[in-house]
Amino acid sequence: MNTEEERQALQKDLDSKKNTDDRRSLGQFSTPFPLAKEIVTFGLTLLGGKGTRDVRFMDPAIGTGSFYSAVESACSDERCLSAIGYEIDPHYAMPAKELWRGHPIEIKISDFACEPPASFRPNLVVCNPPYVRHHLMHAERKKELALKATTETGVKISGLSGLYCYFMLLADKWLSEGAISGWLVPSEFMDVGYGKCLKDYLLHNVRLVRVHRFDPAEAQFDDALVSSAVVWFEKGRPDPDGDALFTYGGTHDSPAMSKRVKIAELETERKWTRFPAGECKKTDVAETLSDYFTVKRGIATGNNGFFILSESKMRGLKVPDEFSVPILPGPRALKADVVTADSDGNPELPERLFLLKCPKMAEEMGRLHPQLCEYLRSGEENVSKGCLCRSRKEWYSQEERRPAPILCSYMGRGSGEKGPFRFILNHSKAIATNSYLMLYPTKRLTEEFGDGMDVMRAAWEFLNKVSQAEISGEGRVYGGGLRKVEPRELQRVDVSGFASFAANRLESSVEQGGASTRIDASAEPISPR
Ligand SMILES: C[S@@+](CC[C@H](N)C(=O)[O-])C[C@H]1O[C@@H](n2cnc3c(N)ncnc32)[C@H](O)[C@@H]1O
Repeated sequence: MNTEEERQALQKDLDSKKNTDDRRSLGQFSTPFPLAKEIVTFGLTLLGGKGTRDVRFMDPAIGTGSFYSAVESACSDERCLSAIGYEIDPHYAMPAKELWRGHPIEIKISDFACEPPASFRPNLVVCNPPYVRHHLMHAERKKELALKATTETGVKISGLSGLYCYFMLLADKWLSEGAISGWLVPSEFMDVGYGKCLKDYLLHNVRLVRVHRFDPAEAQFDDALVSSAVVWFEKGRPDPDGDALFTYGGTHDSPAMSKRVKIAELETERKWTRFPAGECKKTDVAETLSDYFTVKRGIATGNNGFFILSESKMRGLKVPDEFSVPILPGPRALKADVVTADSDGNPELPERLFLLKCPKMAEEMGRLHPQLCEYLRSGEENVSKGCLCRSRKEWYSQEERRPAPILCSYMGRGSGEKGPFRFILNHSKAIATNSYLMLYPTKRLTEEFGDGMDVMRAAWEFLNKVSQAEISGEGRVYGGGLRKVEPRELQRVDVSGFASFAANRLESSVEQGGASTRIDASAEPISPR
């Protein structure tokens, strides 16, 4: 067995002795060796391109040493290798120390985030840092690390940042001038708000060289579902007139797509995942969805199984009309894209659902509605203890919400134009759960075009023409290819041309004698979340 074979056997054995929750709390998901080798080889090429012969390697989160092993195997004899690695968990660090005894590496068992730099100055840092999400980090630790990171780099770090962001910033002080640094991180930072700290660092503190984003449908780790990117930069003064290589898909060595992007463009583009496939988003987009619709998440009931009932169950419990409101089934169960309504405004669907919305259970209520009270009592044991129910004054009370004329399913895998984002035109007074986003017309829409269902239909038709890629471009994508768009992100979608489209549609419907039924959906929900 060679050392790498021994290391892989050791990794497997050590992983099997820890449970997944413990591993997650320290971000212990090792890099498959073939991937480590591709990454390291690229780093060594960058270093070699600078005429550097000696390799001073550092991995701040070394585990059993996947990257170090790759460096050793890729370094030719004439390159002089020295290395240092940090590992917080003795479970991995002790056997790794043993494994690499006699090799030119020092493994330190300590918390890298709190280490002052040693005299060793690496010229190559390659790291798969722990992906520990912010809510799993103690508030005190976050505060302490954020202060350090800001003092050392001048970059302000958001409290929503995962541990990997702190690692990247805190490694800065170690780097010698011209050092090459490569980080295998979640690609999420390229899109989400907290990622700004890393983007600021990459644009203003160092020279960004390359960002490779793996296809999110092809997870890089067997045991962790994240979509990953490798970020390469060189320690040195940033070049605002320069550019960086953005690659996507395929492999790190042989990407499916690539493009050079100007640093100036990266400064203005909030979503770096637009590259390399797309262009920088125009900052002067004429119309965005927020001009015409306010987007809110549907309601969180606290327990759909308990609070959402079929029509027959409602009848069985003799629930009076005023204690219920029609609610749409989830996107998967809702086959139609247009929900029509009966004369009472209830949706015309094969199976109708209702949300139970009861006032306080007073004595009088027990007398008037005994079955309903009995049913509520049956939820006292379990349902009332749920996180959301517990936080309410009456555990069974529900948020007030008006129906929305347009809904959007905002999460799913889907591909190409058959994507996950589906718009539903709702003629009924049914509301929706948080498996939908609810679109309420703005004052501008109703002032310019009115608030009839013909206007909403025109808007719905237009939204159906907006490409899935445009919507995805505003949203985010998770490992395994799950795509999602949040209310504020949907509001940013470019709907240029909507005004003229709506005007034309309405004109032609008037010419054809189309009626304009007013909708019962005010510009804002009564109690927005
Ligand atoms: C994603 S794994 C990467 C391991 C290895 N470098 C690889 O690529 O296979 C992250 C490693 O960082 C270690 N770690 C977590 N927090 C750390 C810290 N504060 N300081 C040093 N190591 C840490 C974990 O125990 C884990 O072994």
